[in-house]
Amino acid sequence: MTTATALSSTDTVDLFKKYVIPNYERYPVNLVRGEGSQVWDSEGKRYLDFFPGWGCNLLGHCPPPIVEAVQEQVATLIHVPNTWHIEAQGRWAQLLSERSFGGQAFFCNSGAEANEAAIKLARLHSGPDRYKIITFEGGFHGRTLCTTSATAQPKYHEGLGPLVAGFVYAPFGDAEAVANLIDDQTCAILIEPIQGEGGVQVPPVGFLQSLRQLADEHQLLLMFDEVQTGCGRTGQWFAYQHFGVTPDVLTLEKRSAAASPAVP
Ligand SMILES: Cc1ncc(COP(=O)(O)O)c(C=O)c1O
Repeated sequence: MTTATALSSTDTVDLFKKYVIPNYERYPVNLVRGEGSQVWDSEGKRYLDFFPGWGCNLLGHCPPPIVEAVQEQVATLIHVPNTWHIEAQGRWAQLLSERSFGGQAFFCNSGAEANEAAIKLARLHSGPDRYKIITFEGGFHGRTLCTTSATAQPKYHEGLGPLVAGFVYAPFGDAEAVANLIDDQTCAILIEPIQGEGGVQVPPVGFLQSLRQLADEHQLLLMFDEVQTGCGRTGQWFAYQHFGVTPDVLTLEKRSAAASPAVP
């Protein structure tokens, strides 16, 4: 298959230098094509992609059923605003509900937005006096100002302050520290059941159960950020299913298959 492209990798890098804000570190390679676990650059060099899209390309590059479903959809209805119904969205919500713990889905555009929505939901649910949310050191919840504030990693906070108020941080795995942080203003606990960015950290045995117990005792929402672990990545549909602990809210994103109800 041809990998012809108008620009070489060097010329593409130059284009970026001139026109793209350099906030991400990138390899000096212009990718032009992907198939399964392989990608090709504009010079025709093939790479094995062990890191497909930070987890977005859950099924590899360009799996034919996904390509066909997306092509069919954009040729049928390319965009449907929230003012209408569309069967595919209803069916996808049904699948998510049936494969998790029931309830309804809210659709948005990114993991950060999903977490923003969960944070708003927790505050709305708990009334005006309870707004604090406990999150965990080493966690990652997104790059908007609010989810950066929820992310307990100082390197992401540098130069951005003041952060959004109301987030308090506990060490991952320390239920006693969580208990000590809860006060009358706390409304929720937000946690990745397995930390992704934090280095694939599996929680100590019993930790998530303790969080469930604390949440029940103090009428807090237990919210699992499964943006990195959801939809089959850990061997279950959702990582929480390994631990026998059911959250009240689940946030998902990041896999190209997520938009397709045709995926089994
Ligand atoms: C656990 C977790 N939550 C949220 C996000 C943010 O997702 P997005 O990049 O889609 O905004 C990420 C991104 O890597 C993540 O790993």
